[in-house]
Amino acid sequence: MHTISALPGNTYAATATAARFDLYVFIHKALREFMHHTVAAVGAMDLDDAGERADVLDQVELLLATLRGHVQHENDFIHTAIEARRPGGAADTAGDHVEHLEAIANLEDETHALRTAAPAQRALLALRLYRHLAAFVGENLLHMQVEETRNNAALWALYRDDELVALHDRLMATIPPQEMALVVRWLAVALSVPELAILFADLRAKAPPQAVEALLGVVRQQVSAPRWARLAQAIGREA
Ligand SMILES: [Fe+2]
Repeated sequence: MHTISALPGNTYAATATAARFDLYVFIHKALREFMHHTVAAVGAMDLDDAGERADVLDQVELLLATLRGHVQHENDFIHTAIEARRPGGAADTAGDHVEHLEAIANLEDETHALRTAAPAQRALLALRLYRHLAAFVGENLLHMQVEETRNNAALWALYRDDELVALHDRLMATIPPQEMALVVRWLAVALSVPELAILFADLRAKAPPQAVEALLGVVRQQVSAPRWARLAQAIGREA
């Protein structure tokens, strides 16, 4: 468990290392957006509206499944890379991941309990889920700060950027199209237009054109017309 006062990282370190390849920054921005949006949706849920209740609980389950997959990706690729060259170097965030998987299972149980509850029980179960999900998101925000500072410092000390890009490419190659579309749906609103342009330039270099077009379609559904026009211009595509 991390506390705000114990968080690593400072402005100088961030500036001094800004030029290095950052494995975490895009996906973590997307996950922060997905988490914030979902906590707010649970808080705003009308428990007497069956359609809205089902949609919000579906979103909670999708978030939890996405976070479980994210933990697995980090364990399999990033922690493995750190441990290969610095044994024990990923122990802190690996320990967090064990706790996160337990929390995810508990939150899935709470989501199921609310989905199947009698009407009289719903309000209490919904408030419990809202508070527990918010606390879990809080812990995740602190955890991601540790990853983006301490783990990045380890990765940058242990690997060259071309090695980190190759590691990231190997990780990305394991993500099925449906999961990629979900992540891009949140990246679309979490990243700046210049960051989206970098993302799509990279995708164009590595993925089939039809797959890239499908993902651009996902972005187009999520962003405003001016933002879409600026992205189209940045990647040299007709809006
Ligand atoms: Fe993590």
